[in-house]
Amino acid sequence: MTKINKAACIGGGVIGGAWAARFVLAGIDTKIFDPHPEAERIIGEVMANAERAYSMLTMAPLPPKGKLSFAKTVEEAVEGADWIQESVPERVDLKRNVLTQIDAAADPKALIGSSTSGIMPTDLQRDMKHPERMFVAHPYNPVYLLPLAELVGGEKTSKATLEEAKAKLAPIGMKGVIINKEIEAFVGDRLLEAVWREGLWLIKDDICDTETLDDVIRYSFGIRWAQMGMFETYRIAGGEAGMRHFLAQFGPCLSWPWTKLMDVVDLDDALVEKIANQSDAQSGARGIRELERIRDQNLVGIMQALKAGDEGRGWGAGKLLSEFEDHLWKNAPVPSASTSDEPIKLLDIKVHPSWVDYNGHMTEFRYTQCFADSADALLRLIGVDMDYVAAGHSYYTVENHVRLLAEAKLGDALYVKAQVLPSDGKKLHTFMWLYRAADDTLLSTCEHLMLHVSSKEGKSVPPLADVLAKLQPLIDAHAGLAKPDAAGRYVGQKKA
Ligand SMILES: NC(=O)c1ccc[n+]([C@@H]2O[C@H](COP(=O)([O-])OP(=O)(O)OC[C@H]3O[C@@H](n4cnc5c(N)ncnc54)[C@H](O)[C@@H]3O)[C@@H](O)[C@H]2O)c1
Repeated sequence: MTKINKAACIGGGVIGGAWAARFVLAGIDTKIFDPHPEAERIIGEVMANAERAYSMLTMAPLPPKGKLSFAKTVEEAVEGADWIQESVPERVDLKRNVLTQIDAAADPKALIGSSTSGIMPTDLQRDMKHPERMFVAHPYNPVYLLPLAELVGGEKTSKATLEEAKAKLAPIGMKGVIINKEIEAFVGDRLLEAVWREGLWLIKDDICDTETLDDVIRYSFGIRWAQMGMFETYRIAGGEAGMRHFLAQFGPCLSWPWTKLMDVVDLDDALVEKIANQSDAQSGARGIRELERIRDQNLVGIMQALKAGDEGRGWGAGKLLSEFEDHLWKNAPVPSASTSDEPIKLLDIKVHPSWVDYNGHMTEFRYTQCFADSADALLRLIGVDMDYVAAGHSYYTVENHVRLLAEAKLGDALYVKAQVLPSDGKKLHTFMWLYRAADDTLLSTCEHLMLHVSSKEGKSVPPLADVLAKLQPLIDAHAGLAKPDAAGRYVGQKKA
């Protein structure tokens, strides 16, 4: 995949800060220019939220974080950057000035995206010397989690720029969609504005309050939209006769009409006061950062559910997450088999929200999952990778014995250590310990036995020579370690 090597964020507010988090967590060195006196503190808080969200989002190995630094000028920020993202306030004169400054200082081949929510790129690129590489990359908040960027070119933007931008977003887990024609507010904000305008009328006319309106969305079509959007959803609503029937049935009511259409509500002081008061009553008990954390946790859960959609093949944003994870795994450094006589550290993870049961603790089978993932990590260490499996060889688990010793809670960082017990390679016998990282508390142990198999022949066979050559030194290195206390003990058996 073609990738971004170095990024610059000009403007580091709600959107610019979250773009920076997206870049840094994808391993890209990022420089920010923002004259706000508290820019570093604000971006630090966004980074913390983003890291928390990523630790729940995926267990795939994220690359080492990129370096985040702050520049004193636009020129310093864009030096050497191949993706520059402008996210200054939504004023055409200000954006034009900033973009012209970026254009003059940046490498002429660097891509320049604007986060504008609605200004046409033709208007923004007017004064640029190299306008062909400037486009709108309109993201959604929080940029570090929501993967979409609408890519919109202006009259002078080259088609190749949009294709390159789309290709470069994929390795950072984003989906660039190229919009055919430029238009104010593009696609997403046009839709949102229509709903927003209607929502303001419903509050003004006392049809409902803000909480009721939000409930109507989040208990119904809000969930539906997250997975199938509008047209696919309505196709289903048309029943077996599909879209044509749906249009025939609901088309005529568009002209009644049910909605206020283009009437613009007067946001006078009274309406502002009414909405602000209702919003305080609805959500005022929680601070913004707390609401952001709740939002992020919910978004992570939705994306993980979508990852399991379409019978495990992934659906919508979940399919994209799955592709991002494949990319991370493919690019993860291949561990070299350590021949130290210490147990090997195999897993570093955090307890996901979906792993917690009604007691508030990590649920039972997730302990087993930690050990299964550790066994996978051990296999990768000895060269049992996807190519090896595709060629018809693998290790299958035939027995394990998990002991649960202490509780893990949401967000706890965990790690696993493993000792390879004497075995002949066809059998791979390990003992693993799961610890809480904060205080090295032992939470669980697992004695685990795998058998090497030929999946084509359907029987156990010795591993190929390359694998054995990596495994044997590990077995030898651990041969001098004492047998773990619980190894070979059956359930309830006391120590001898
Ligand atoms: N907030 C959203 O939900 C959202 C979503 C998508 C797109 N956008 C777009 O993103 C852009 C930024 O919006 P935001 O919500 O992050 O606003 P914001 O007010 O949170 O951030 C703007 C930042 O730009 C900085 N700034 C001002 N002048 C600058 C300059 N000359 N050089 C560098 N930095 C400068 C400010 O100090 C501030 O930190 C806007 O174009 C907006 O339309 C916003």
